[in-house]
Amino acid sequence: MNVVIADRPAPGGCTVGIAGFGTVGQAVARILASGAHPGVQLTHVCNRNVARKRVDWAGGEVVWTDSFQALIDSPVDVIVELIGGQDPARRWIEQALAAGKSVVTANKQVIAGSGPALLREARRQGRHLLFEAAVAGGIPILRGLRDGVAGDRLRRIQGILNGTCNYILTRMECAGLSFDEALSEARRLGYAEADPSADVDGYDARAKLAILVGVGLGRVVDVEDIPAEPITPVAAIDFIYARRLGCVIRQVARAELTPDAGGLHAAVRPALVPEASALARVGGSRNIVVVDGEFGGETAFSGFGAGGAPTAVAVVSDLMAIARRPAPAPDGWLPASGEPCPVIRAFEAPHYIRFMINDRPGIIASLAQVFSHHGINVDAVLQEPGWPKTELPFVMTLESCSSVSVAAALADAAGFDFHVRPPLWLPMRVDRSNGTAGSSPA
Ligand SMILES: NC(=O)c1ccc[n+]([C@@H]2O[C@H](COP(=O)([O-])OP(=O)(O)OC[C@H]3O[C@@H](n4cnc5c(N)ncnc54)[C@H](OP(=O)(O)O)[C@@H]3O)[C@@H](O)[C@H]2O)c1
Repeated sequence: MNVVIADRPAPGGCTVGIAGFGTVGQAVARILASGAHPGVQLTHVCNRNVARKRVDWAGGEVVWTDSFQALIDSPVDVIVELIGGQDPARRWIEQALAAGKSVVTANKQVIAGSGPALLREARRQGRHLLFEAAVAGGIPILRGLRDGVAGDRLRRIQGILNGTCNYILTRMECAGLSFDEALSEARRLGYAEADPSADVDGYDARAKLAILVGVGLGRVVDVEDIPAEPITPVAAIDFIYARRLGCVIRQVARAELTPDAGGLHAAVRPALVPEASALARVGGSRNIVVVDGEFGGETAFSGFGAGGAPTAVAVVSDLMAIARRPAPAPDGWLPASGEPCPVIRAFEAPHYIRFMINDRPGIIASLAQVFSHHGINVDAVLQEPGWPKTELPFVMTLESCSSVSVAAALADAAGFDFHVRPPLWLPMRVDRSNGTAGSSPA
């Protein structure tokens, strides 16, 4: 293989090798090729079967290689990992750090799973490991947490962290589409993968939430401990009922410290949020993160959570931070030690339960009796007219109560023979005092 060493960038700059020349890798190269940031110079691109990736606009001096080892052996200052997935991405990041390179990555899986260990290695080597693009794409949320609201003591972080789910849910809300119709449309427009399960099942958002918990709340959390519930059971009828309650439905990623800061509630699940809340006003594929601090109250960060160009901006911003300050400060981005903080699964909130039943007299009385038996107060019963009696959706809302009690009540109610489908059970994130997305734990 022929390695050509490109000219060094301006003093105070850095040279860059990109590993993974896909959507984000190419968008990063385009920004660097634009000349907007002369201090950051692309010198190497690594991708499997790289010949089919070669482009002339990236600069004639760029070295194209199939071999990651060639990147390690080259004099590049920073390696940008953009291949995605766990393996070999994690191994490549370790190798790059061990070789004395700084690393920038957009890889939420690797950072959520191994961030603290990799940061320890980066610190040991006196190198940077930056990952702004791993959470909410183009929104500078990690820098916002680390620098912008560093003066506060954060208690809660909640957000819409998955653009695919937000697109599907807002299309169901605005156009009355079914889940399948909205998903097909999202696929057609490039907002959803052929296999959307990581998005719709909540796993993508929970990896991002785990990183936010580390950077914003200062707790290491095992990503697998965060409950994730799918948006797939949400139906078009739920948006009609949600509207009657002054709400919309969103996939909400939420983490909150207990009042003594000793425990952590965290979850990703569909939830009702007030129409007037910041979470409800983010439509389509956009993302939002709302942080709540003891001193400063709520601060929202919003923008494009994905897409090649917005994500590439976050990557290039990390590169510029490295170019400005090649030796990192000794403090880390994540808590670099400590056992993972256990996640408390039970939570208190008002609840929305949508039943789908084969109608007959006495159903509401039977359900009310079950809820009463578990100490739960029913707040309202809603029933839209015009549905067939053999498949009739109706909703009961419950006053704020423990999720443990709701689960026990619904387990008892599962024995009734009138269910056509299992009920859909969503928390209502409604803070009745101020109309914002509520303050009860995740
Ligand atoms: N796309 C977004 O909007 C977005 C937003 C935020 C974060 N991210 C993150 O950014 C990273 C990159 O995403 P992307 O959308 O750019 O992915 P992508 O379009 O699939 O690009 C990945 C690139 O890496 C190459 N690659 C994969 N495995 C490789 C291997 N083992 N050896 C060599 N090359 C390999 C692929 O080559 P082939 O062409 O041969 O497959 C492809 O060119 C991921 O971690 C993703 O989660 C993406």
